[in-house]
Amino acid sequence: SHAARSNGASEQPETVRFETAGELRQSFPKGFVFGTATSAYQVEGMANKDGRGPSIWDEFVKIPGIVANNATAEVAVDQYHRYKAGPVLPYLLFEDVDIMKMLNFDAYRFSISWSRIFPDGTGKVNWIGVAYYNRLINYMIEKGITPYANLYHYDLPLALEKKYKGLLSYQVVDCASEQSSLSRVKFDKCFKLCRKDFADYADFCFKTFGDRVKNWMTFNEPRVVAALGYDNGLFAPGRCSKAFGNCSAGNSATEPYIVAHHLILSHAAAVQRYREKYQEKQKGRIGILLDFVYYEPLTKSKADNLAAQRARDFHIGWFIHPIVYGEYPKTMQNIVGNRLPKFTKEEVKMVKGSMDFVGINQYTTFYMYDPHQPKPKYLGYQQDWNVGFAYKKNGVPIGPRENSNWLYNVPWGMYKAVMYIKERYGNPTIILSENGMDDPGNFTRSKALHDTTRIGYFKAYLTQLKKAADEGANLVGYFAWSLLDNFEWRSGYTSRFGIVYVDYTNLRRYPKMSAYWFKKLLERNKD
Ligand code: NOJ
Repeated sequence: SHAARSNGASEQPETVRFETAGELRQSFPKGFVFGTATSAYQVEGMANKDGRGPSIWDEFVKIPGIVANNATAEVAVDQYHRYKAGPVLPYLLFEDVDIMKMLNFDAYRFSISWSRIFPDGTGKVNWIGVAYYNRLINYMIEKGITPYANLYHYDLPLALEKKYKGLLSYQVVDCASEQSSLSRVKFDKCFKLCRKDFADYADFCFKTFGDRVKNWMTFNEPRVVAALGYDNGLFAPGRCSKAFGNCSAGNSATEPYIVAHHLILSHAAAVQRYREKYQEKQKGRIGILLDFVYYEPLTKSKADNLAAQRARDFHIGWFIHPIVYGEYPKTMQNIVGNRLPKFTKEEVKMVKGSMDFVGINQYTTFYMYDPHQPKPKYLGYQQDWNVGFAYKKNGVPIGPRENSNWLYNVPWGMYKAVMYIKERYGNPTIILSENGMDDPGNFTRSKALHDTTRIGYFKAYLTQLKKAADEGANLVGYFAWSLLDNFEWRSGYTSRFGIVYVDYTNLRRYPKMSAYWFKKLLERNKD
């Protein structure tokens, strides 16, 4: 179609073949949903405009050297305007939602920017921001794309960080000097604020968009928020332990655990609101999005098996264990001791069972081994794991490394990760909510469009996912990360995860070969 041509489709080689892919869709369970995913800060742009308040990331990216090339997401890929073709860009025949449609996707996972709705985190509503999400959602529905809305993707309103230290929240009046104290009474006083503010924001979104949005997610990758924000300092707000040298503010032996606890309670509080006030009428479902690097023991030894289990507990068990069983994994309780907050009886009731589905972001797998060293002193969250990471076994790499330094291409890890969740956590409803790989930012357009490696990645991972579904995992959907090249946090624009290439000089979209691979894969039987 000419629509496709105007976005570079004519550059696609004629020789792409899809022999096996076409069968794949039918082999997934009936009603299985395929979509793509993005997040507000990474794609929207208009970060300082139309009444949006800043988030902690807007502040963080200002620190020189924090983001590659000191890039920001002020413009990002301008999805704020380019979700559809319109009067702003009359020369383009189609834009993001049209592209999804053209590629035969069923759904789109996007996130709502809290500070676009509540610029101060609470209180006054920015109706211009509300109108944007209404436009986006309505256009998706018009095009037959099902909205999956995530309420939080790393972007806490800066106002709340300033007001009471955000997710840490220890500097509310009563707690000014109690940052690492976890006594029950102090804990309650310190943590109510942000928890309530998140639930209020979520409530507003359910009320405003829930007539059309039936799939809600509370937090994306809370582990990343707690570990990168408060242990190694790589992500906003950039707090970390002395063990890592140059970032000085925090105490990573306690803060990640406090923040995670708070995220879990905030999640549960939002789910409670949804269930009490909206779910019956709106007939939707709500869950949380957890990242899961699969950890495979390096050897068959008992010690390495235990090391891998510790790693899984500290990684995904940290969040899914309380949500399914009402408490932290035993390994964590034993190792972290009284630095690990406890749930009160009342909180256990609220947290346990607080998801209709779990979203799993799965990209990669590492080997784990026992370091055979005495337990280190408690320096921080990562040290608490007391494990060694390996990327090779007997000299053989676990898989090819992609552009990001953490991303090894290990398809079998997808199968193992999903089966692990199925078996250990009572076969919950699972949405594979992110999966994908990146190319370097400096790939030329023609090189980037010819992304056969990415096609191979998707093909292999989806085959492993299907195997898990065949073996009884309760999988209901899959979302590729990402629809578009976009702002990849610390890597800025030097990492391209999109199935659609973005030319950053003019923000034009060019579907890559992998996008057409999905199109073909998702084609319904025509006859
Ligand atoms: C995880 C995050 O949810 C997303 O924001 C990020 O861009 C991708 N994975 C790739 O790193």
